[in-house]
Amino acid sequence: MHGSVFTQLERYVVAGHPAGTWEALLSRAGLRERTYDPLDNYPDEEMTRLVDAVVEASGASRQGILEDFGAALAPALLRMYWSLVDESWRTLDVLEHTEANIHRVVRLKHARAAPPALEMARTRPGEVILTYRSPRRLCALARGIARGIAGHYGERLEAEDLACVHRGDAECVIAFRVTEEAP
Ligand code: HEM
Repeated sequence: MHGSVFTQLERYVVAGHPAGTWEALLSRAGLRERTYDPLDNYPDEEMTRLVDAVVEASGASRQGILEDFGAALAPALLRMYWSLVDESWRTLDVLEHTEANIHRVVRLKHARAAPPALEMARTRPGEVILTYRSPRRLCALARGIARGIAGHYGERLEAEDLACVHRGDAECVIAFRVTEEAP
């Protein structure tokens, strides 16, 4: 997984917490003194261990943590690739164009980065349906990223899980609907 996701996880974990929180989390995850370079790549298994440690330390659900982290990560993702985001776009337009315009460029620029191939269908003006298939099974992160993008545009977004690998389905299908548009 791309180093920027690890450095953003650190920011998410330390926000509002005392000094030493990240180091304590690294130890809990068996990764003492590990450092992450935002331009490098690291094993997915380390992200799993870190998220497990956050779940243990916080007592919150794994899906809840991933969704919350996704929402916190979204503004940083938007900033990193702002040049690819058309100024006329709003939440659903960003979602619709993530695969062709953004994840595709991430793969070109970072040979070892492997963002998931997202199928986004604009079914009607206020709705985008995402089909997510990734061995990382991070659909909750996807839900959170979408929520964070909506937060950036000041729009209200509803997400309905139509199918989910965590419920035994073969893939995750999420319907995103904007219920309140930005003025
Ligand atoms: C500005 C927009 C976006 C940027 C710059 C971006 C970039 C990235 C990057 C760099 C990664 C890490 C890839 C790796 O470690 O190999 C990633 C992963 C991911 N992205 Fe995006 N992304 C964006 C929008 C989205 C959106 C809108 C969604 C879904 C709603 C999404 C879903 C995910 C998920 C779930 C992962 C985790 C890896 C996986 O599931 O296999 N991303 N993205």
